[in-house]
Parts: sequence; structure tokens; C-alpha cells
Amino acid sequence: PDWNTSLFGANHGLLFWFQSLQGAARGAVKFAIDVGYRHFDCAYMYQNESEIGDALRQKLQEGVVRREELFIVSKLWSTFHERSLVKEVCQKTLAALQLDYLDLYLMHSPMGFKAGEELFPADGNGMIIPSDTHFLDTWEAMEELVDVGMVKAIGVSNFNCEQIDRLLSKPGLRHKPANNQIESHPYLPQEELIKFCQFKGISVTAYCPLGAPNWPGSKPDHISLFDDPQIKEIALKHNKMAAQVLIRLQIQRNVSVIPKSVTPQHIEENFKVFDFELTEEEMETLLVALSSCRLCKQTLSDSLT
Ligand SMILES: NC(=O)c1ccc[n+]([C@@H]2O[C@H](COP(=O)([O-])OP(=O)(O)OC[C@H]3O[C@@H](n4cnc5c(N)ncnc54)[C@H](OP(=O)(O)O)[C@@H]3O)[C@@H](O)[C@H]2O)c1
Ligand SMILES: *[C@@H]1O[C@H](CO)[C@@H](O)[C@H](O)[C@H]1NC(C)=O
Ligand SMILES: *[C@@H]1O[C@H](CO)[C@@H](O)[C@H](O)[C@H]1NC(C)=O
Repeated sequence: PDWNTSLFGANHGLLFWFQSLQGAARGAVKFAIDVGYRHFDCAYMYQNESEIGDALRQKLQEGVVRREELFIVSKLWSTFHERSLVKEVCQKTLAALQLDYLDLYLMHSPMGFKAGEELFPADGNGMIIPSDTHFLDTWEAMEELVDVGMVKAIGVSNFNCEQIDRLLSKPGLRHKPANNQIESHPYLPQEELIKFCQFKGISVTAYCPLGAPNWPGSKPDHISLFDDPQIKEIALKHNKMAAQVLIRLQIQRNVSVIPKSVTPQHIEENFKVFDFELTEEEMETLLVALSSCRLCKQTLSDSLT
């Protein structure tokens, strides 16, 4: 399996980038709550859950928001797929976020990695070392988190149709996946996968909805949704920014959307998406695959059922 070209890019540049963002999360979350955001997409892997926890604690204490108004998501990282590790790492996430339950806990990827200290355990050739635990077994351990009240619901991320099917037809399945979080934007509409999930009663969340404009990975330079003439034209027609059109697009297809921003001006802008509506024709234009680009490659998860 070639994880070098796959999902998270097993390269330290990416991890460095994550770390360089530390410090920004606390302020961004506080500002976002004041603006009106209630859904926060976290993950053990992002290494900023304790900062987010500080921000949540402060806003809850100030009485700006109540816990039941928030929708807090986190994800089980790939090095914790062994059944015996699931509860403990979820407990770590809860402690970092200073919460006693999560609204939704996702399996970050169908592919488990070798357990241990390293987030991306690699062999001598830089290849990710897989775990030998199948995601169906990991799922059983996640079901127990619902039973004990640590999480309200469980779901998956980066699962394709085949993997979803495999999970849904698992003998003895006790808790259905509530959500599949996948990359989606006009250069990767994912119509088939989204329709499939929705048909099966699984809600969908779109990540990288803006096409991750500052993505440090292997994205070709010329790929920019913000510079796309058709997206720009639609935005201009509505007197909106391209980012707002991209967010609105997901809302109108009944897909939950998680644009990332640590810039106050963007955080505000990205929230002003409830005062306009894209026409059916515009939706079609945006979803007909104007171009094609997958930021988070899933070579391996695609071949794993
Ligand atoms: N499940 C998974 O495997 C997975 C993978 C990737 C991402 N995710 C989740 O999805 C979230 C979003 O994805 P993402 O961060 O990769 O990509 P994204 O949301 O498409 O793009 C984020 C980038 O856009 C910029 N931006 C935000 N609003 C803007 C605006 N109005 N105008 C101009 N630039 C703007 C941000 O910069 P500023 O911060 O400066 O605004 C940031 O660099 C992540 O935070 C994460 O929670 C999940
Ligand atoms: C936490 O870190 C991740 C990975 O760097 C980033 O995508 C996310 O936006 C950060 N969270 C906040 C609230 O800044
Ligand atoms: C939107 O999705 C939610 C969750 O999957 C579902 O319950 C709801 O019926 C859907 N609404 C429409 C209008 O399709």
C-alpha cells in the first residue's frame, strides 16, 4: 500500500504545518462561538484538542452557550484501531476537550496504522505500517462508547460506498454509522457517494469545502476554486464571496459543511450564508465537476474492504 500518495501524506511537512497552527485554535473557537458557530470538528490527530477545550470551557462558563447547543465532533486516529485502545484514546479526547460526552465520534479512516507513539508509523522505506485490525472490529469497540454514554453517536470518515456497505451488513451491527465525513467541493462533488449515504440514512459532512486553498501538500498550484471563472461568476451574481457560494452549495444539498478558518474576517464571512439561495441551474453548474482534484488521496482506503 502506498501511503505516500495517500490520505494524509505521510510526510512531516504536513505535521509541521499542523503544529505551526497551534495557538490559533483557542482564539478562533472563541470568536466562532460569538459569531454563532455551534458545530466544531475536532480530531485527536490535529493535536489541538486541549486548546479547543480551553475555549469551550471559557464560553460555557461565560454562559455564552450551553453544552446542549454545541455539536462537538472528534475522531479516532488510525493508530488506535485495536479494540483495546479505543476507549482510552476517546477518554483522552474528552479530557482534552474538557467535556463529558461527544456528540459524534468518527473513525478517521478505514485504514488502521500500527499502534504506538508515532501518528504515522513508517517502515524503512517510508511506507506506513498498517494495523492488522479490521475496521469492523474497531467499530465494535466504538459501539461500546455509545453504550457507556461517552459519545451520543458514532460514524466514519473517508469511507467509500463499498466500505459503508461492508459496515452496514456486518453481522450483529448494534449502532449504525450516523455520518460519513468526506472531501467534497466542486472539483470533487462525490454525488454518487453522497446519494448512497443519504439513501442509507447516513448524514454526510463535507470537508475541504473550499478546496483547502492553503494546502501545503501536493496540490497543483493552478487548482484554486476561488479563481474558477464559473464560481466567481455565480458569486458575483449574488454579491457574495466565492467561499460563501462553496459553503452554501453544501447546505443546499443537505450536506453538513466544515470550512476551516482561524481568520476572524473569514470566520464571519463564512457564516453569512443564510441570506441567499443558489438556483437549481447554479447548483448543477457547481456539481457537474468543473474540474477534478482530490486533495486527500485515498488510494489505500479505496482498495480496502
Ligand atoms: N476527515 C478528514 O480526513 C479530514 C481531512 C481534511 C480536513 N478535515 C476537516 O475539514 C476542515 C476543513 O478542511 P480544510 O481546512 O482542509 O480545508 P478548507 O476548509 O476547504 O480550507 C481552509 C482554508 O481556507 C482558508 N479560508 C477559510 N475561509 C476563507 C475565506 N472566506 N476566504 C478565503 N480563504 C478562506 C483558510 O484560511 P484562514 O484560516 O486564514 O481563514 C484555510 O487556509 C478541517 O479543519 C478538518 O476539521 C477532515
Ligand atoms: C486544529 O488543527 C487542525 C489541523 O492543523 C486544523 O485543521 C484545525 O483548523 C485546528 N482547529 C482550530 C479550531 O483552529
Ligand atoms: C437531510 O439529511 C438529514 C440527515 O441525513 C435527514 O434526516 C433529512 O431528512 C434530510 N432532509 C432532506 C430535505 O432531504
